[in-house]
Amino acid sequence: MRMYDIIQKKRDGGELTKEEISFFVKGYTNGEIPDYQASALMMAIYFNKMNYNETLELTMEMAKSGDNMDLSGIEGVKVDKHSTGGVGDKTTLVVAPLVAAAGAPVAKMSGRGLGHTGGTIDKLEAFDGFNVGMSMEKFTSSVNGIGIAISAQTGNLAPADKKLYALRDVTATVENISLIAGSIMSKKLASGADAIVLDVKSGSGAFMKDDKGAFELAQEMVSIGLGAGRDMVALITDMDQPLGKAVGNSLEVIEAIDTLNGNGPKDLEDICLHLGAHMLLLSKKVGTIDEGLQRLRGVMESGEGIEKLKELVKNQGGDPSYVDDTSKFKKADIVKEVLSEQEGYVYSIKTDEIGRASLVLGAGRENKESEIDLSVGLIVEKKRGDYVRKGDVLAVVHSSSAEKFEEASRIIRAAYSLSEVRPADEKLIKGIVD
Ligand code: URA
Repeated sequence: MRMYDIIQKKRDGGELTKEEISFFVKGYTNGEIPDYQASALMMAIYFNKMNYNETLELTMEMAKSGDNMDLSGIEGVKVDKHSTGGVGDKTTLVVAPLVAAAGAPVAKMSGRGLGHTGGTIDKLEAFDGFNVGMSMEKFTSSVNGIGIAISAQTGNLAPADKKLYALRDVTATVENISLIAGSIMSKKLASGADAIVLDVKSGSGAFMKDDKGAFELAQEMVSIGLGAGRDMVALITDMDQPLGKAVGNSLEVIEAIDTLNGNGPKDLEDICLHLGAHMLLLSKKVGTIDEGLQRLRGVMESGEGIEKLKELVKNQGGDPSYVDDTSKFKKADIVKEVLSEQEGYVYSIKTDEIGRASLVLGAGRENKESEIDLSVGLIVEKKRGDYVRKGDVLAVVHSSSAEKFEEASRIIRAAYSLSEVRPADEKLIKGIVD
């Protein structure tokens, strides 16, 4: 088999066979196929697309290219949850303890990620002493013992995807639904869960900027998961404004704690309850979504959810007293308000720009080597539909320097569009694909 023939076939609109896809993925991962041939194939796929069979084969090959987590030592149906990412998305910190407290095993591998804030793993490191690296034995015994463990992904999870994603990033071939779906799902399949709940974000703060694209991506990922023998559901959720109010690592952990205590922002609580109810349904702990919602509200009100977070933190070496006393989280030197210079209803918020403000403050990584500052970020005080007067607080910025505060506040002010007309309410959950 020759790589040249595979590129030519896709260039001319042909369908690649299982053997051809396997030859490509293996050869590219072990270095026998050079970047220039892989780039040519990615561009041919970008223009000529892949059908369902090709997408599934590519995903399965990438999933097989490195470690595959064996969760068989964990009792019960293992359900994972994955979000395609957005601004203020701290759902895992709320959903994971709630679902574990409701009786379903939560065996979660999370990433750090590039972007406007760190990933779940970075956020958990805001608890003094929290250990995100766990042996498989400790991971398994923790889930069997206390019902929950959250660990950093191993470095060798789907290495074929790691290499290909880096290549796509510099060859303008990221934006193809099959390639995105395959990339995300290869890592999820290798993580070993029996069932997966996807939160596919749609809007200006998300990877998919409109509902059409988000639904297409959701459909593709659900089909791949089903084809690989996993139970699947995807919720398409609003990311045209930040989720909740907090953006930044420690700030998001504090907001997650407030939410588990029943004092969180309504939008965050709603999405968490729905994602959690779908996890309980797939893990067969409840028979309907309504029953799942009721169960989760119950564990929230009884305090079992917040207790589960404390157990998780303690079990992984962190200081659980931070949960009761959030003033223990490291604070930024400067905490200052950004005031509105205009008046009107918040018509829209360029959510990606709010993410950029957070990045400028140092809450996220620009590249893999960047250090993140867990204490900085912002609290969004005005959301879509709120009325704003001149001098009202749009956001409160937590910054390490006056210069960064100035730059972030300029970006935040420019991200808001005010209008005399109140915008129509948007649905928080736009649809479900299963
Ligand atoms: N996230 C991924 O992991 N892969 C993509 O291709 C896009 C987003």
